[in-house]
Amino acid sequence: MSPLSSTPPTLAIVGASYAGVQLAASARDAGFGGRILMFGDEPHLPYQRPPLSKGLLTGKTTVAALALKSADFYREARIEHVPDMRVSHIDPAAHRLTLADGSTLTWDWLALATGARCRALPMPGAGLQGVHALRSLDDALALDEAAHKGKRVCVIGGGFIGLEVAAALAGRGLEVTVVELGSRLLSRAVTPEISRFVASLHAAHGVRVLCNSAVQAIHGHAGKVSAVELESGECLGCDLVVAGIGVVPNDELARAAGIVCANGIVTDALGRTSAPGVLAIGDCAATPNPHAAEPDTPLRLESIQVANDLARAAASLIAGQPQACIAVPWFWSDQYDAKLQMAGLMSPTDDVVVRGDPASDRFSVFCLRDGCIAAVQTVSRPADHMLGRKLVAARTAIAADTLADPDFDPRTLIPR
Ligand code: NAI
Repeated sequence: MSPLSSTPPTLAIVGASYAGVQLAASARDAGFGGRILMFGDEPHLPYQRPPLSKGLLTGKTTVAALALKSADFYREARIEHVPDMRVSHIDPAAHRLTLADGSTLTWDWLALATGARCRALPMPGAGLQGVHALRSLDDALALDEAAHKGKRVCVIGGGFIGLEVAAALAGRGLEVTVVELGSRLLSRAVTPEISRFVASLHAAHGVRVLCNSAVQAIHGHAGKVSAVELESGECLGCDLVVAGIGVVPNDELARAAGIVCANGIVTDALGRTSAPGVLAIGDCAATPNPHAAEPDTPLRLESIQVANDLARAAASLIAGQPQACIAVPWFWSDQYDAKLQMAGLMSPTDDVVVRGDPASDRFSVFCLRDGCIAAVQTVSRPADHMLGRKLVAARTAIAADTLADPDFDPRTLIPR
């Protein structure tokens, strides 16, 4: 079943986070009996990332609780996790990869689960001490330590990372300003109704939110950050800067090997790239998604659930029983006591129906496309979120005015 006929076959996984771990575990579960090697460039056992910008900063989560799987799990499943080891080159034609220490390995299947990295701040002063980004456990620990000494923080970027960090640090008593380039918060992922709620939520917790604001420069004193200067001329004094201005896919290995990339490594629904035997999964992969407004266009989704689903599909291919599995994408964010949950992929041209009262801090936004429910975004209404996943999956048709009627029960729409 493997592209090469060596016995036992080798599955090499580059990247040891959600997608890589899920692929390794699912390949074993599906009966792959060969060797599984998983290379990671971090020193830690693979760990959960969502708590890094939430519980780890608020003190509700400990580092010890973050491991995705125990060391025993990898040993028992015969998954060789190689920490602190970068893969520096791949040669799809020769089915060979080269490690940073110069050694080489021949593989039958290669999976690129290299993830994404924080977009670098494009302005002077970005390298000053006190300027942080947040992607890895080490990033989070460094930010946590800096926040112990910091008093005033400027968060650049009003996306998920920026707002979760703002909520956590405001909760720790720091004075927080969020500077967002766009006209509203979280514009990539949520409707304007949710953006407005999130802005008012942060304001209620004393966070200053500046939209339509560009940073001109970061200033420092003795090598340490002291202020953020906006294009408007305003200077925000601060001793800590956190940048959350999006991520870029780690697709360099694939690009150098001539594999097709377009904002990520392009794959089909089983994770196959343009190179035979090479798969890509997780945040680095761009895969057509039937739930997107443009279902045939490869789409890179930064979602754990999407990463896990594609990893499972890739594992089924490796085990010889290919089965695509593209569920409705969903993701979430915790800020203060509010739980934001998103099911499906909204499009800016969707019609929007709000159920519940945003002023009550619990409401839901239904996005309708072509008369069907395409996405559901909820604030602290988990039952609506679970319902939304089902309604989106079934592409449920409904008239906007029916859905807007408070007496209408959307649960009656669940297909039997
Ligand atoms: P993001 O794409 O969610 O938000 C970036 C924000 O920065 C956007 O609002 C954008 O308009 C703004 N921006 C871009 N350039 C800017 C500039 N020069 N000045 C000011 N604002 C600027 O990306 P974010 O927040 O960095 O998240 C990174 C990754 O972490 C993503 O993969 C995200 O999905 C993931 N993540 C997901 C969470 C969740 O699902 N709850 C929570 C935290 C992170």
